[in-house]
Amino acid sequence: MAFMNRQGLEVLFTRQQIAERVAEMGAEITRDLNGECLVMIGVLKGAAPFLSDLSRAIEADATFDFVATSSYGKGQRSSGAVKLIKDLDNSIEGKTVLVVEDILDTGITLAYLRKLFLQQRPKSLRIATLLDKPSRRIEPIEADYVGFSIPNLFVIGYGMDYAERYRNLPDICIMSPDHPE
Ligand code: IMP
Ligand code: MG
Repeated sequence: MAFMNRQGLEVLFTRQQIAERVAEMGAEITRDLNGECLVMIGVLKGAAPFLSDLSRAIEADATFDFVATSSYGKGQRSSGAVKLIKDLDNSIEGKTVLVVEDILDTGITLAYLRKLFLQQRPKSLRIATLLDKPSRRIEPIEADYVGFSIPNLFVIGYGMDYAERYRNLPDICIMSPDHPE
């Protein structure tokens, strides 16, 4: 039987599973950093809870920056075009950069952002995504750190939304296409 939360949504990853995986990712990123300083770039709004938890699992001197791109709009389908709504506050030239994203889906957003960020010539640029839906990929892009690889499901919670709702659910849940909302 599937595990349901209080709203009757099916839970895909519990808060404990997320916390354990984020701790592992933080340890791996810490090892790879080798004592270097890090600039963590969160993609608003969905990556905010993940960046918050991941940053505290990384033992390094880290700063935060955020970008915002045009999102999925009100439904579950992407428009395919990316628009930058909020740019970086500070230059990342020569910096060790980690882009932090909630979910890598078609790859259109991260492919756009990677190209944009590389124009500033960072020392290195890696990508951490909590979730990956490889079967949905349109742009050839992979993350360096993946929390969980999932099939083609629409998920909500832990930052991820459906029409801006559900971002504060502590567990990651499945939004079924016939959910009454
Ligand atoms: P991509 O450009 O198709 O890779 O989409 C990336 C963005 O789409 C993510 O940052 C999410 O905001 C959104 N997205 C993709 N799949 C889901 C999902 O299952 N639930 C909620 N948001 C999603
Ligand atoms: Mg997002």
